Amino acid sequence: MASEAAATRRLPRFSRTERLLHWTHASAFFALLATGLILYLPSLSTVIAHRQIVKNVHLYVAAAWALAVIAILVVGDRRRLAADWREIESIDRDDRRWLRGRHAPQGRFNAGQKLNAILTVAFALLFALSGFFLWLGERDHRFILAGTGTVHDLLTLFSVLLLTGHLYLALIHPSTRHALRGMTLGDVDEDWARRHHRKWVDAEQSTTAP
Ligand code: HEM
Ligand code: HEM
Repeated sequence: MASEAAATRRLPRFSRTERLLHWTHASAFFALLATGLILYLPSLSTVIAHRQIVKNVHLYVAAAWALAVIAILVVGDRRRLAADWREIESIDRDDRRWLRGRHAPQGRFNAGQKLNAILTVAFALLFALSGFFLWLGERDHRFILAGTGTVHDLLTLFSVLLLTGHLYLALIHPSTRHALRGMTLGDVDEDWARRHHRKWVDAEQSTTAP
C-alpha cells in the first residue's frame, strides 16, 4: 500500500538558514518579552525581588540576540535571505487587491506576511535603538532622551498585538496552520502551497520543469 506520505507531493519552503533565523529571533523575542514585562509590571518586580538580575538577563539576551542575528546574516545563506527580502518589499497589484479583501493569487509570502515581516524588522531595529539609549542613559546622563522608555513600551505593545495574530495563524487557524511544517521540517504539501501561494508554486515549477 502506497503510504499517504508517499502520495503527498512536498515542496521545499524554508531553508536551514531561514528556519534558524526565525527560531533564533522568536526565542530571543520571547525571553526579552518575559523579562521586559517583569521589569514593567510593578507587582511582578516586587514578587521577583531581584530586579537587577532580571534586568541583566534582559540585557544579556538582547546582546546575544543581536550577535546571533548578525552571525546568521554573515555565515548563513545570504543570497537566499536577500531574495526573501526582495520578495517581501515588493508589494504588487495582487498584493494590494489581497489587502483590500479581494481574491488575488499570492507569491511565496502573502501581502499580510510581507507586512508582518517588514514590521518585525522595523520593530527589531527600534527595540535595539531605544534599548541601547535606555542602557546608555543610565551610564551617562547626557544620553537620557525624553520618550525613549515610552517608545520601548509602545513597541512592546504593538509587537504583542502583531504576534497574537501571527500565532493564531501559525498554530490555530485550520487553513493556515499547515505552514508550521514549513518552518519546522522545511517543506509543505504542494496542494496547500498551491491554494495559498499559487504564484510561488507556478514560478517554482516553471524553473524546475525539464
Ligand atoms: C536589543 C534589544 C533590547 C535592548 C537593548 C533592551 C534594553 C532595555 C533596557 C536598558 C531597559 C530598561 C531596564 C530598566 O532599567 O528598567 C528595558 C526595559 C524593557 N524592555 Fe527592553 N530591550 C530590548 C528589547 C526588548 C524587547 C524585544 C522587548 C519586548 C518584546 C522589550 C521589552 C521591555 C520592557 C517591557 C521593558 C520595561 C520598560 C519599563 O519599565 O517601562 N525589550 N529594555
Ligand atoms: C511559537 C512561536 C512561533 C511560531 C509557531 C511561528 C510560526 C511561523 C511560521 C509557521 C511561519 C511561516 C509561515 C509561512 O509558511 O510563510 C512564520 C513566519 C514568520 N514569523 Fe513566526 N512563529 C513564531 C514566533 C515568531 C516571533 C516571536 C516572531 C517575531 C517577533 C515571528 C516572526 C515571523 C516572521 C516575520 C515570519 C515571516 C512572515 C510571515 O510568515 O508572517 N515569529 N512563523
